[in-house]
Amino acid sequence: MQSRLVTIEEGKDPTTNSIRTNQSRVFPSRLLRSMLVLLVAGIVLSIISIRMNRNIGLRSIVPGTQQPCFQVPISLRNLIKAPSNYMHSMNDSQLLWRASFVPQIKEYPFKRLPKIAFMFLTRGPLPLSPLWDKFFEGNERLYSIYVHSLPHYVSNFSTSSVFYGRQIPSQMVEWGRMSMCDAERRLLANALLDISNEWFVLLSEACIPLHNFSIIYRYISRSRVSFMGAVDELGPYGRGRYDINMLPEVNISQWRKGSQWFETNRNLAVDIIKDTKFYPKFERFCRPACYVDEHYFPTMLTIQSPNLLANRSLTYVDWSRGGAHPATFGKNDISKNFFKKIREDQACIYNNQPTSVCFLFARKFAPSALEPLLQNSSNFFGF
Ligand SMILES: *[C@@H]1O[C@H](CO)[C@@H](O)[C@H](O)[C@H]1NC(C)=O
Ligand SMILES: *[C@@H]1O[C@H](CO)[C@@H](O)[C@H](O)[C@H]1NC(C)=O
Ligand SMILES: *[C@@H]1O[C@H](CO)[C@@H](O)[C@H](O)[C@H]1NC(C)=O
Ligand SMILES: *[C@@H]1O[C@H](CO)[C@@H](O)[C@H](O)[C@H]1NC(C)=O
Ligand SMILES: *[C@@H]1O[C@H](CO)[C@@H](O)[C@H](O)[C@H]1NC(C)=O
Ligand SMILES: *[C@@H]1O[C@H](CO)[C@@H](O)[C@H](O)[C@H]1NC(C)=O
Repeated sequence: MQSRLVTIEEGKDPTTNSIRTNQSRVFPSRLLRSMLVLLVAGIVLSIISIRMNRNIGLRSIVPGTQQPCFQVPISLRNLIKAPSNYMHSMNDSQLLWRASFVPQIKEYPFKRLPKIAFMFLTRGPLPLSPLWDKFFEGNERLYSIYVHSLPHYVSNFSTSSVFYGRQIPSQMVEWGRMSMCDAERRLLANALLDISNEWFVLLSEACIPLHNFSIIYRYISRSRVSFMGAVDELGPYGRGRYDINMLPEVNISQWRKGSQWFETNRNLAVDIIKDTKFYPKFERFCRPACYVDEHYFPTMLTIQSPNLLANRSLTYVDWSRGGAHPATFGKNDISKNFFKKIREDQACIYNNQPTSVCFLFARKFAPSALEPLLQNSSNFFGF
């Protein structure tokens, strides 16, 4: 803070000096001299008012700018510009508060090209990133990318990768605990700072796209509902995880379970990041063996906006092998037939119509799958 104030002051003084000397040289007449006095008085007044602003703390909330404020006209272009640098110094409370800003006039007074924010929740490396690079190629105006990795991890993407510089300020995550939902909210909040992001997709380092970008963009943008998995599952892994202390906010028939890998529109994303009603209950009363990332968002959104949810996830995962973790696919699983089954041999509802295209993404894929996927992506996925 201190150093920025100093630069602001330094930037201001040379300007005032140069105005003063230029003016006295060019306009010597008495009338103009008295106008000059007025000008100097004006400058002195503005300096005083800047000092006063600073004293009452206004300066500290003015977004960073290296020029004196009376020289920078506010423009819409600057207010709606996507942040070019994802690093910031806001902590979570500040970030969530800032991200919860919502315009009250529905119509945008500019041409807004809505984007999909692809949010990668990872431990560290993104071994399948070359496949994603290929997937995104040529669609630059229609997507944004955000990566949350464990805080000690330093990525080294080359400048030609779409993932270069896309890391957001991250914190420790423990799988299956509230810190996981915190990370998801952090991703959403950072993505909400870009007003062009309209849809938000959560992915992991083991996810791949199953279609080309235009198909995925069309499927998501034309859907009337958001793809949050949410089912009322009986038995120990569903209702069995409900805790009676969740009352009165959540009763047993409102309790939902769903895959963590969601897609929401902007309104629901804001609902998720602004929540203070359900958060404390889930934080306290949904701890392992209640896995909060499978219950918090599905339950909250089902209570608040049941009609805006598809109640299914867009991300394919194979639990058929049993156990606590889904199947991981490697080099030997990759074949045209394997993807044909995932992509087409299904049945689900899309905008009230039955469809066989239920999944846009799939997991989990091992790094060994990268080579055959890259080689055959146009054959498998059409990109
Ligand atoms: C963020 O910083 C503010 C001001 O220092 C503080 O009041 C707040 O508790 C902090 N929030 C978190 C989550 O650390
Ligand atoms: C990033 O680091 C890994 C090892 O940590 C290395 O194998 C890889 O080549 C590096 N990638 C780039 C783009 O520098
Ligand atoms: C749960 O709450 C809903 C909405 O308030 C209500 O309609 C329903 O009857 C309640 N169910 C139970 C089991 O209490
Ligand atoms: C999703 O489930 C809710 C109830 O939990 C229901 O109201 C809603 O209609 C369902 N959505 C679809 C698309 O069927
Ligand atoms: C991928 O493409 C290569 C070259 O066309 C081919 O030899 C290989 O069999 C394909 N792999 C799969 C899994 O289809
Ligand atoms: C995307 O895939 C669809 C269906 O496979 C195809 O018709 C379309 O041409 C592809 N789009 C691009 C830009 O490659």
